[in-house]
Amino acid sequence: MEGFPSVVHPDNNEYSEERTSLGKLLFYDPILSSDSTISCASCHKQEFAFGDNVSVSKGVDGRLGARNSPSLANVAYHPYFTREGGVPSLEHHVLVPLQEHAEMDLNILIAAERIGKSDRYMKLCESAYPDKPYYFAITSSLAQFQRSFISSNSKFDDYLVNQDPKSLTQSELNGMKLFFSNRTNCSSCHEGINFTNYGFENNGIYKTYLDPGRYRLTKEDADRAKFKIPSLRNVGLTAPYMHDGSMSSLEEVIEMYSKGGRGSPYQSQLIKPLNLTDKEKKDLVEFLKTLTDTEFIQNKEFQIP
Ligand code: HEC
Ligand code: HEC
Repeated sequence: MEGFPSVVHPDNNEYSEERTSLGKLLFYDPILSSDSTISCASCHKQEFAFGDNVSVSKGVDGRLGARNSPSLANVAYHPYFTREGGVPSLEHHVLVPLQEHAEMDLNILIAAERIGKSDRYMKLCESAYPDKPYYFAITSSLAQFQRSFISSNSKFDDYLVNQDPKSLTQSELNGMKLFFSNRTNCSSCHEGINFTNYGFENNGIYKTYLDPGRYRLTKEDADRAKFKIPSLRNVGLTAPYMHDGSMSSLEEVIEMYSKGGRGSPYQSQLIKPLNLTDKEKKDLVEFLKTLTDTEFIQNKEFQIP
């Protein structure tokens, strides 16, 4: 496994401290929702690695969407966003929650108007993005703040860097071997530094799916009920799991994989009965918990003073 590459910023949004700190203020500010009650941080909470601890988070007016709020750790490395992968950059993605009826429900032009009425934001936007309209400053600075969410300091990273087998317990080491084995295939899909190859797969959590997954975007039958493979970084903190938050614990997830999925016609060939023993199940769970990065969830750089 290679180390963490440096973060690439797009040409029209080069890194600056001013831009990142503007993005931070906006991330925590409910001014970006129609009734000024919901911010990005309402659903993406630092203590849960910028995910949420409910199946489906509430947007404005208590409205519920259909999907679980994912962790934003290491989103800087994702090639596309949302579970069907239809959004090409973090800059574009800001418009999704902003305009989504069940999330913030606010037109970006109205958001820009609100920002323009605040002396503080006006000054910050003009110094971070001179000569650019406020809507550009909103999407660009939020994208930039999210690119700073790097989680690379878990117990597992300690083990990799120090190459000291003693930094993991025997159970965690056993779980690691299982995870990276051809028997379980976990790392065929959850691979690399971010524990995902960013592919779209069906891992068999249902026989019949309500959510069309990637089909919603491509209208290709082969993409039915396929979802972007999630990163497993900080997975010990991000319950409940899966696109709809339908699994409440890692034990439940491992039980499902051990049984070989629930037999969806779209299920990947890689998901098959593993018949794990109780000890092996426990070892896998223990390994997954070594991906928790306590420094990341306590990092003051991500907080408003
Ligand atoms: C009401 C809850 C809610 C709010 C508010 C919200 N999000 Fe999200 N966010 C979600 C959900 C749910 C998803 C998953 C969408 C999907 O998979 O289709 C998501 C997905 C994302 C993703 C894509 C992650 C990935 O792995 O593809 C990013 C990035 C993101 N949100 C950033 C933001 C930002 C920035 C804001 C504020 C402008 C914000 N969110 C506001 C619930 C919310
Ligand atoms: C065929 C590819 C594939 C294989 C093999 C696979 N997974 Fe997954 N995994 C996925 C997909 C796709 C999802 C998301 C499904 C959804 O959103 O409904 C997922 C979700 C998860 C989640 C929940 C993450 C979250 O934040 O919701 C965990 C934990 C997980 N997998 C662990 C494992 C383990 C452990 C193994 C091996 C026993 C494994 N996976 C094997 C594709 C795979």
